[in-house]
Amino acid sequence: MSKGTLTVTEDRPSKTGEEMRVSKDTLSITDNRTGKSYEIDVKDGAIRAMDLRQIKTSDEDFGLLTYDPGFVNTASCRSRVTFIDGDQGVLLYRGYPIQQLAEKSTFMETAYLLLHGELPTEEEFRLFRHEIIHHTLLHENIKKFMDGFHHDAHPMGMLCSAVAALSTFYPGAKNLFDEKKRQLQIYRLIAKMPTLAAYAYRHSEGLPYTYPDNDLSFIGNFLSMLFKMTEGNYQPHPVLERAIDVLFILHADHEQNCSTHAMRSVGSSHVDPFSAVASATAALYGPLHGGANEKVLRMLEEIGSVDHIPAFIKRVKQGDVRLMGFGHRVYKNYDPRAKIIKQMADQVFEVKGPNRLLNIALELEKIALEDDYFVSRRLYPNLDFYSGLIYQSMGFPVAMFPVLFAIARTVGWVAQWQEMLQDDDQRIARPRQIYIGSPSRDYVPRAER
Ligand code: CMC
Repeated sequence: MSKGTLTVTEDRPSKTGEEMRVSKDTLSITDNRTGKSYEIDVKDGAIRAMDLRQIKTSDEDFGLLTYDPGFVNTASCRSRVTFIDGDQGVLLYRGYPIQQLAEKSTFMETAYLLLHGELPTEEEFRLFRHEIIHHTLLHENIKKFMDGFHHDAHPMGMLCSAVAALSTFYPGAKNLFDEKKRQLQIYRLIAKMPTLAAYAYRHSEGLPYTYPDNDLSFIGNFLSMLFKMTEGNYQPHPVLERAIDVLFILHADHEQNCSTHAMRSVGSSHVDPFSAVASATAALYGPLHGGANEKVLRMLEEIGSVDHIPAFIKRVKQGDVRLMGFGHRVYKNYDPRAKIIKQMADQVFEVKGPNRLLNIALELEKIALEDDYFVSRRLYPNLDFYSGLIYQSMGFPVAMFPVLFAIARTVGWVAQWQEMLQDDDQRIARPRQIYIGSPSRDYVPRAER
């Protein structure tokens, strides 16, 4: 393998029109191994990785690759859905600031916005809501499927498997490029994920499944499917209904995160969207992603009291444990969603009473924000630091937290999946590798080894 260096110089267009004509947005690369120079176009602040392939030391050389584990500095798509400025703590859905949507919009309206790119008119919203509400029912066989799970099965495992199972009920979902059929699967996914989630919860609680109630709002119906007991009509508490609505808005999309990447990557094989959502749900399940809100609660329980915080922080700084709910690949500033959640938590605690873990969380945040370990690494609370406390106060078991995240994020997954399918640049996802294993060698029979 050859070692060597590249010398890179930038030739960016200047602001004046005159100079713009003579100056191109390019990189000049000189390969110090061969002395050859190359001009690489720069567009939207990026170069095309394939343009590097021409940089070779010989005709046999495969060409230059980029090495980027975890895609830390690699854009895999051009997207119009969500924008994040991690340094400034800015999050926009289709250009609208998350704060305005959380204050003025609803999850249903935000879902329309993410999918279609614009806020709906009254009529568009009425039709969209009608479509979602009329797809909330599940096939009766799904109950039998759910019954097969052990009583203490994790609801995220149940959700993941059940949504994959839905693909077998809708073989037409394979028609990805039939616009009408694709829309139908999108409505089904947004509508049925809450019903699957509620079934998973009722199964683990040993309660009978509750059918959807179309007279309630999307969130009200979800709460009814979860918590309805013997009453004729379940009426959700308006503060709690709104709190879930806002939490779902905050969780709806977050550009190219791990689960969205799974959705796009698996979807790029042109599998049906139910199977692709199952893969995205699995990615979300992990403790470094959507499973973090569950881990935050378990961490706060483990700390147990404010007095134990300094010892816990010491363990974090030694690298023994992570401070769950802190840090983010993109945000190097306070996560704007965490700020909104923190404010909303007070409204929920007013209705449900204070959460005994809140003091530990507040003190933990205060200490961490002043400690050089966290300050120097720009580690701030992310949305999962407080969301679990709210969910717990509302009566959700800890294992349901990532399930709630998955219901909301389904909207982002399908919006991004649809964008991927309509993007001519996209091909089946298939990264390269740098092989560091053994060179070719001959098989030796076992007796001779
Ligand atoms: N506690 C302690 N140290 C941390 C933490 C943390 N939560 N997060 C990062 N660090 C340290 C890490 O040890 C490393 O230090 P050093 O440079 O000395 O090796 C440095 O900060 C950079 O960390 P990283 O692991 O390279 O950062 P990343 O961008 O690969 O990981 C993350 C991002 C979110 C996975 C990570 O911050 C983390 O594990 N956080 C805790 C889990 C969590 O809250 N996840 C939810 C993310 S938000 C919801 C979502 O979008 O899913």
